[in-house]
Amino acid sequence: MNLSTRYLGLTLNTPLVAAASTLCGEVGAIRRLEDAGAGAVVLPSIFQEEIDHELEEVDRLLAETGAEALSYLPPGLADLGGPEGYLKLVRRAREAVDIPVIASLNGAAQSGWVDYARQIEQAGASAIELNVFYLPTDLSLPGVEVERRHIAILKAVKGAVSIPVAIKLSPYFSSVGHLVGELDRAGADGFVLFNRFYQPDIDLEELKPVRDLRLSHRGEIRLPLLWIAALAGRVKGSLAASSGVQTAAEVVKYLFAGADVVCTASALIRHGAGYMKTLLDGLVADLEAREAASVDEIRGRLSRASVAEPEIYDRANYMKIIRTGHTAAGEL
Ligand SMILES: Cc1cc2nc3c(=O)[nH]c(=O)nc-3n(C[C@H](O)[C@H](O)[C@H](O)COP(=O)(O)O)c2cc1C
Repeated sequence: MNLSTRYLGLTLNTPLVAAASTLCGEVGAIRRLEDAGAGAVVLPSIFQEEIDHELEEVDRLLAETGAEALSYLPPGLADLGGPEGYLKLVRRAREAVDIPVIASLNGAAQSGWVDYARQIEQAGASAIELNVFYLPTDLSLPGVEVERRHIAILKAVKGAVSIPVAIKLSPYFSSVGHLVGELDRAGADGFVLFNRFYQPDIDLEELKPVRDLRLSHRGEIRLPLLWIAALAGRVKGSLAASSGVQTAAEVVKYLFAGADVVCTASALIRHGAGYMKTLLDGLVADLEAREAASVDEIRGRLSRASVAEPEIYDRANYMKIIRTGHTAAGEL
């Protein structure tokens, strides 16, 4: 069975990628993921705030006491969790496994942290996944500005490194396809669809907003599936599906839609790094049952461009569903 896959210009042994999460912040788990058949791992994100904080701190210490003060950086920042610790993680992961190690930069504004991408490359990352997690709660900010910001950040990071750069997007744009096209033209090597937003809830006892982290469920593949299917074959960059994978069935659906790779975080956190092998075995069993000799044989076969009735992915489908009131039982 040929599972090899091209992603961001890299050759992966399998199309399964361990998505950015705390699990991939530990080298032992990264090794187990490789053993269990991950084609690549994405490290947890280093945040713009962490990098900018250190830059500010360096400036402050330089201004106050001169270059000598640099050796007195707050110990917390030099430890894991700070920018230095992150580079150490990249280096250790690089040494520990043969599969591509993708570092994740998470930021919302173009600033000093962009240069940090260069250090990530020097530390041995195979690629960078750029997560522009941005909530435009400023009501005076037009959508086009939010999109420009994504493009500017991508260009800045692309300009700083020579390794491939993927961008992880939110689904909340008025024209996802147009933005993806613009980013494609601006040089994005791939698109991770989608970023999962962690919306706050309200605690009715304490009467305050709360933030918690819920793992995903399989119903969450629907939105990324739609956009992967709509974009497959129409952009230069690779397509990575992200959200909702719990079993091999979701992996297979994403591949049929046209994903180059399928990412998973929640399922691995629920069941452990070894669960990657369950997903892989399920994928292989599915391909064998279909008498497919490679993932390429199924990839994109149900993309919008490949199906006989592309309108299934469009408004006509919405109208029919609403009119017939068709519901799927047992989705969650
Ligand atoms: C515990 C946890 C930590 C995560 N950390 C990151 C992160 O550091 N950077 C990032 O881009 N995404 C992060 N994510 C999001 C995942 O990479 C992924 O996009 C999301 O969970 C949807 O995929 P899933 O349905 O397979 O969980 C995290 C998710 C979880 C559950």
